[in-house]
Amino acid sequence: MTQSRLDLAFPDGHPGGEVLFIGATAAEDLSPLDPQHLTIVQGHVAEHDGLAARGLRVSPAVDGTFDTAIVRLPRAKEAARARLALAAAHLAPGAPLWVDGQKTDGADALLKELRALAPVTEVISKAHGKIFRLTLPPEGLPEAWQARAREVVPGFTTLPGVFSADHVDPGSRMLVDHLPPKLPTRIVDLGAGWGWLSAQALARAGVTELHLVEADHAALTSARQNVTDPRARFHWADARDFALKEPVNGVIMNPPFHAGREADPRLGAAFIATAARLLTGAGKLWMVANRHLPYEQVLAQHFGQVHEIAGDTRFKVIEASAAGKGSATTRKAARR
Ligand SMILES: C[S@@+](CC[C@H](N)C(=O)[O-])C[C@H]1O[C@@H](n2cnc3c(N)ncnc32)[C@H](O)[C@@H]1O
Repeated sequence: MTQSRLDLAFPDGHPGGEVLFIGATAAEDLSPLDPQHLTIVQGHVAEHDGLAARGLRVSPAVDGTFDTAIVRLPRAKEAARARLALAAAHLAPGAPLWVDGQKTDGADALLKELRALAPVTEVISKAHGKIFRLTLPPEGLPEAWQARAREVVPGFTTLPGVFSADHVDPGSRMLVDHLPPKLPTRIVDLGAGWGWLSAQALARAGVTELHLVEADHAALTSARQNVTDPRARFHWADARDFALKEPVNGVIMNPPFHAGREADPRLGAAFIATAARLLTGAGKLWMVANRHLPYEQVLAQHFGQVHEIAGDTRFKVIEASAAGKGSATTRKAARR
């Protein structure tokens, strides 16, 4: 269980009434709060499921009015403002709003900004971060802080805080430039984000069904808006354990390689393992990755044929298929 600053903010335990906590995570110590009177908003599917497994009330959206709200700051400033605006919209008049975040997530800058808008009555610093309490003025927070979809490229909108919220990722663009003109019939896009890559795949010949798999609820919400093609299927799911009843014959992906702030190639490795599991023997994977990421070993483990089909100093585009994998295994077995 990770330590939080909640015990300092609530030394006497649950503050009373109904508490809304936006952004609580699955591994954190929530012991000062009474689970019977706690509602958590969490849009990352793995965190959501981890909290639900602890028996907590958790949802990607919020409904109702609360007597206290706690907002955990995300990294992106716009997403932080949107969380605060969401909390403000669901707080009873005069109810306290607690803001908790790391320095690296902009806690100090936001404290300064909020002081100009509302009385801040307590500020507690611990472990490179802060938790502070404010009382909202009757007019609430600036209207512009509310989460709004904005158009990034024609026909595609994003919500604050999603991956590559203000441009098409150059890695995805390179992958699209090297996809064949005709794609297999059944495709999965692992980590589909706000849907740009999936939409380009749907524009290729051959596709009859495309599954968009995305862990971030906000990104998938945008993808649903952006990809209205009836061949698209949307899954708010963790790609690491995603499964379909029937195998597919194509996987496309630009896998994530950060868990929070830390670069973690294990995430991409797990995506590669899922791709191999989802594909038929004749199926193909097309993926793009940052050049420095060490995926060669895990690709060789799961696929018989692995080719870098394009790239530059920043990215590599890889095509992989199971073909040859069985025969390599057979050859080894025969030598024994
Ligand atoms: C590098 S981005 C690519 C997004 C999109 N395909 C694009 O081209 O813009 C990786 C995506 O994977 C999502 N993601 C991260 N961890 C995930 C997981 N465990 N399961 C599913 N999606 C995940 C992120 O939210 C992000 O949208």
